Parts: sequence; C-alpha cells; structure tokens
Amino acid sequence: MLEVFKWSQSFATGIEVVDLQHQGLVEIINEAGAALSQGNADPEAMQAILARLFDYAGEHFRIEEGLMRGHGLDPRHTQQHVADHQHFISQLRLIKDVLDDGANPIAWAMTLGFLVYWLSFHNLDLDQRMAVQMRLIAHGTRPSLAYDQSLSVRASDASREAMVSALTDIYRLSAGALLPPLKG
Ligand SMILES: [Fe+2]
Ligand SMILES: [Fe+2]
Repeated sequence: MLEVFKWSQSFATGIEVVDLQHQGLVEIINEAGAALSQGNADPEAMQAILARLFDYAGEHFRIEEGLMRGHGLDPRHTQQHVADHQHFISQLRLIKDVLDDGANPIAWAMTLGFLVYWLSFHNLDLDQRMAVQMRLIAHGTRPSLAYDQSLSVRASDASREAMVSALTDIYRLSAGALLPPLKG
C-alpha cells in the first residue's frame, strides 16, 4: 500500500501523547492516499476521512495547547504555535468548501499534498521546539531562556530526508491523478 506520509523517528517529539496523535493523523492521511491511489476517490468516503481529520486535528491541537500553557511556555512560542494551528483549521474549512462543490482526484491529490506539507513543517519546527522547551522548563530553565535555546533547533538531515520522501510520493500520486492512464 502506498503511504503518502511515511512516519519516521525524525518526527518523534518524545512526548508520548503527542507522538501517538501525530501517528493517528498520519494514518488518516495515508487512508485517503491509499483510496486515491487505488482509484476509488469516492466523494462520500473522502468527505468522511476529511471529517475525521477535522475532529482529530482539533482534539490534538487542544492537547498541545494545554501542554504549552500547563508548562508555562514563553507566550512568544505559544502565540505563534496556536496561530499556526488556527491557520491549519481555517485551511481545512476552505478545502472542505471546495470539495463540497464536487471533488475530483486532482483536488484530492492537492489536498493531500497540502496536509503532508503542513504537518511535516509544523512538526519539524513548532512541535519539536515545543517539546524542547517543555523538557528545559521541567529541568528548571526559565521559559524565556528555554524559548531562546529552542530557536537553535533545526531540522536534522534525517528529518529533511523523511519530509522530502513524503513529498516525493505525494507528487507521484498527484501526477497519477493528473495524467490519463496509458492505453495498452
Ligand atoms: Fe502543534
Ligand atoms: Fe502536533
């Protein structure tokens, strides 16, 4: 089965509940990718997957935002992180409206591309920096200092590789949706 989003250890934050939920999100995206790659992008089934993603992402963001506030992270991080979550939800709403008007495989492939792209970048930047700050604060570092230190967190080569591989598969899938099948 084609996995449009391959989970790799590079995406792990070390916070169990967060990592489990990220894997849950990845599974939903992969279900949609599998349906699309098998050519059964049934609009109702795809809408049901999107609705599950909505619920799951909403719940996941609530958990992360609770963790950030509970650990007293620097508001500069929390504000940026919450704004990014809200942006994602508003993008999902736009996507839903577009797909409500009649989905086609190309629209779905582009939607999947956006989901993988956003989750990869958000995870490798904000979620990773959130985890670093939570650990530093738990060990007695002041939140403002933890924030400064977290800014030096950069995606490792392994994380970049994981993301490029996910995006390559997505583009392959999009090309499959865009190009007419070869006639034998
Ligand atoms: Fe997040
Ligand atoms: Fe997250």
